[in-house]
Amino acid sequence: MRLFITGGAGFIGSNFIRHMLGAYPEYQLVNFDKLTYAGNLENLVDVAGNANYSFVKGDICDRAGVDQAIAGADAVVNFAAESHVDRSIERATEFIAANVSGTQILLDAARGAGVTRFVQISTDEVMGSCAEGEYFTETSPLRPNSPYAASKTAAEHFIRAAHVTFGLDVVTTRASNNYGPFQFPEKLIPLMISNALEDRKLPVYGDGLNTRDWLYVEDCCRAIDLVMHKGRSGEVYNIGSRAEKTNLEIVRTLLDLLGKPHSLISFVTDRLGHDRRYATDPSKIESELGWTPRETFESGIEKTVCWYTENSAWVERARSGGYREYYERMYGKRG
Ligand code: NAD
Ligand code: DAU
Repeated sequence: MRLFITGGAGFIGSNFIRHMLGAYPEYQLVNFDKLTYAGNLENLVDVAGNANYSFVKGDICDRAGVDQAIAGADAVVNFAAESHVDRSIERATEFIAANVSGTQILLDAARGAGVTRFVQISTDEVMGSCAEGEYFTETSPLRPNSPYAASKTAAEHFIRAAHVTFGLDVVTTRASNNYGPFQFPEKLIPLMISNALEDRKLPVYGDGLNTRDWLYVEDCCRAIDLVMHKGRSGEVYNIGSRAEKTNLEIVRTLLDLLGKPHSLISFVTDRLGHDRRYATDPSKIESELGWTPRETFESGIEKTVCWYTENSAWVERARSGGYREYYERMYGKRG
């Protein structure tokens, strides 16, 4: 099987590539990534020499480049996206290009190349904020509240349209908040760990009582693997681990694990349009595909804190932009 994976140099994509190379040593994986600020090939140094893995620098908005790289692929897994809500609030243009136009270009190219399965990596944020006591199911209305979520929702509509109009075999995942190794330190957990390690303030938005359902990234990758192989065509699958925590609970847990004082917490102005609560019901993927998370929040967060503590050089290079030199060293002279 030949997989065309977009956005594989990012957080979830790089963990997924590592998972797939380990689980299916006979598969051929092509990682197609534009290497935006969030794309970091240092996330994949340990697999870069694997004969079944190759990297192509490219933009999913470039149809000719996609057509060339996708040739021969059996399946597409589309991780490529602008993924940070705060950046989308500052400026949404790149989100529309990558997340909406890019997805449609990929769908067209996949049809042209005879791809037999297209996996769209969507998000629970498409359903907006979840009322207390309720849980999002796959049939909950789509009510995106941030420009990022709006762009991911638009992409889902194009995915559905490709299925209904052209019969393309598509499956969509809607995961909750992932955490774990190789997450860019702009997102809550890696940002808070790296700030705490340097005794810097931990900026908590608003009252800190917004909640998210935290999912360890390896569990998410196993779920995507299952959906890709066994998900029913045209269906959507929520992925969540029933580990709902307030942001304050998260930062306090991190400070305790790092042996740092709670006085580092600093309440700052809230995010505009800040969704109060995400809570997904993962019953469908559990009952249909037999998926359950392996990590509890306690085991996952401990592993995560250890990883960031032991990989402070990775964090430092992600923060300073030093990781970009790696691409130049590896690929700069290859044209
Ligand atoms: P990320 O920001 O870490 O990585 C995104 C990757 O996509 C980067 O490597 C970047 O270079 C690449 N990319 C961006 N624009 C591109 C383009 N035009 N062409 C090719 N590559 C491009 O993101 P992530 O957190 O790993 O998220 C991956 C996917 O999962 C996204 O689609 C996101 O919406 C979705 N998702 C993320 C989470 C989460 O908690 N992180 C949860 C649910 C869904
Ligand atoms: O739910 C899935 C989504 O989770 C994904 O689709 C997105 O790509 C991913 O970025 C994530 O979105 P969030 O906005 O939930 O994640 P973020 O890490 O940015 O923020 C998590 C919570 O922490 C949110 O309530 C905002 C808060 N926060 C975040 C940052 C960066 C703070 O209080 N302070 C911060 O500095």
